[in-house]
Amino acid sequence: MSVPADQVFEPADQGTWTAVDDYVSGLLSPHDEALEQAIADAVDAGLPAIQVSPPQGKLLALLARSIGARTALEFGTLGGYSTIWLARALGAEGRLITLEADPAYAEVASANIERAGLSGLVEIRVGPALQAFPALEQEGAGPFDLVFIDADKVNTPAYFSWSLERTRPGGLIVADNVVRGGALVDESDTDPAIVAQRRFHEMLAAERGVEATTIQTVGGKGYDGFTIALVK
Ligand code: SAH
Ligand code: DHB
Ligand code: MG
Repeated sequence: MSVPADQVFEPADQGTWTAVDDYVSGLLSPHDEALEQAIADAVDAGLPAIQVSPPQGKLLALLARSIGARTALEFGTLGGYSTIWLARALGAEGRLITLEADPAYAEVASANIERAGLSGLVEIRVGPALQAFPALEQEGAGPFDLVFIDADKVNTPAYFSWSLERTRPGGLIVADNVVRGGALVDESDTDPAIVAQRRFHEMLAAERGVEATTIQTVGGKGYDGFTIALVK
């Protein structure tokens, strides 16, 4: 895209991206004990600090509230940070199933969700997400109002396909980490996690059942992006 040079904002550095995230969340997501303690306990337990940023967590909550979501499915719980954002947005009658491969991470998440007062809404299923599918199918799980895909990136296409069949019309499927510093468009990058993001976009383009877009992001977690798909 060609834009007059004086209207192009050159990339700021990581310090600026982080400062802007801090500014935005400081004003628009002020002090929240349960969320802050969830991150602190995850750090103490040695979990990687790869949870969504506070502005992204709030975006997930706003998306859920925008569509009046009551049911949600999450791939990748980590310490439960995004889980708490999402579960709160579902309201008191909400229900969220979150899938986490690592039992130790799920333990941390469980305590964090409990402290946030959300244990009654959230169910953590421990094990590789693909292995959770048969039981979910048997139970007739869904339809979901919102799905957040944020687990092992190589399986984003598989999680999307499965979720699409189980998300109501008007529901949203959101996928994190689809841009990966721009690797999305680097055809020479054969990392399976990156190739999977291209495959995911090709699926979205071919799938008549969704309308989707991908938004590139900068912030405390560097340069990445997320996809939002509206189920028709
Ligand atoms: N959604 C979380 C961050 C998730 S990080 C948040 O924003 O707060 C990605 C998570 O996916 C990690 O906890 C990792 O253990 C988990 N994961 C990796 N492979 C998985 C798999 N096959 N099935 C389920 N979870 C998986
Ligand atoms: C990783 C996973 C994430 O969900 C994320 O947002 C950032 C990084 C990772 O596995 O490295
Ligand atoms: Mg992520």
